[in-house]
Amino acid sequence: MFADRTNWNLQANPLSEALAQHRAAGKPLLDLTASNPTECGFDYDSRAILQSLANPASLAYDPDPRGLPGARQAVAAYYAARGVSVTADSVILTTGTSEAYSFVFRTLCNPGDEILIPEPSYPLFAFLADIQDVKLVRYPLDYDYGWQINFHALRQSITSRTRGVIVVHPNNPTGNFTKPHELEKLNEICAARNLAIIADEVFLDFTLQDQAPFSFARNPASLTFTMSGLSKISGVPQMKAAWLITSGPEQLQAQALARLEVSADTYLSMNAPVQWAIPALLEQRRPFQTQLLARVRKNLAGLDRELATQKSCARLVVEGGWYAVLRVPATRSDEELAVELLTQKNVYVHPGHFYDFPSEGFLIVSLITHESEFAAGVKLLLSMF
Ligand SMILES: Cc1ncc(COP(=O)(O)O)c(C=O)c1O
Repeated sequence: MFADRTNWNLQANPLSEALAQHRAAGKPLLDLTASNPTECGFDYDSRAILQSLANPASLAYDPDPRGLPGARQAVAAYYAARGVSVTADSVILTTGTSEAYSFVFRTLCNPGDEILIPEPSYPLFAFLADIQDVKLVRYPLDYDYGWQINFHALRQSITSRTRGVIVVHPNNPTGNFTKPHELEKLNEICAARNLAIIADEVFLDFTLQDQAPFSFARNPASLTFTMSGLSKISGVPQMKAAWLITSGPEQLQAQALARLEVSADTYLSMNAPVQWAIPALLEQRRPFQTQLLARVRKNLAGLDRELATQKSCARLVVEGGWYAVLRVPATRSDEELAVELLTQKNVYVHPGHFYDFPSEGFLIVSLITHESEFAAGVKLLLSMF
């Protein structure tokens, strides 16, 4: 009765099974995978957030397929504050970046067409692609004292069915930003072959470097779809407020926007209260990001202090984002190791293979975990080796 695209393996993997048993047994747990900011003990201005949802204007239904103009202007102002000039007309509001990906895949791809994605990266892409009948083809990021796009492999991955290249800027979980020289090469490749760039910038604001990273939002050289949203920027994933910005050569940009607008108009999925709240919710980013970045820095410093006391494990360079990648002895599979850490040490981490790391020996820890839990978890984790 069901479509092939939904033939997913829905069996729990050994780590989720072990986690469910661990929780059911009521055992203590040091969770180093925390990624839900609303559960990490950050101080939110609850009054301002709740008040933002009580705008009397929400009582009227006056939909705009791209989203309410005031909300789109607030998004444009967010970019203006980073020195990037984005017009409100090029912004389409979406309920989460997943919807933005769906609109883009549907606009670019016929069934079976291909989109290139970085490896390692974020595991949700596989499902998003299945649902849209898109085939994902991976291009490697190589690590050598920092991550970089392997352009030779990327070029070789392109076929007559390739429609676009996804970049995650900075990437989850490797934390590397796309560099200006990489942007130049991407533009060269994409413009020459009529491919689009799809830039996921949900972690753009969370840089650990002195220099602010560039944004793809005004990239003029190839058709570019840039997405971001309030889940990470202001730490409010429950609001389901995100956006998609289209840039590139003028004609292509106009054609893409006109097509995207039909998709957006068909669903009109953003609700009015959240759209009216977007300017105020964007304001919340300032206190949220200050707290989050302080925690990331503190956890990273704590991690480095612990790593300095031993020789078996190391961490890879982190330029931004919410995660750190640990290089650990590959004496068993990463998944077996994660299960052992859970059952023997009460520490929950993600194995590298969840993110398609090309080999064993990588664990991912979340740097937004509460400091005391993080410090205790890291100590126990390292005591395994
Ligand atoms: C790279 C990346 N993109 C998108 C998302 C999801 O964002 P949203 O809540 O806006 O759908 C995540 C969530 O972790 C992510 O890591």
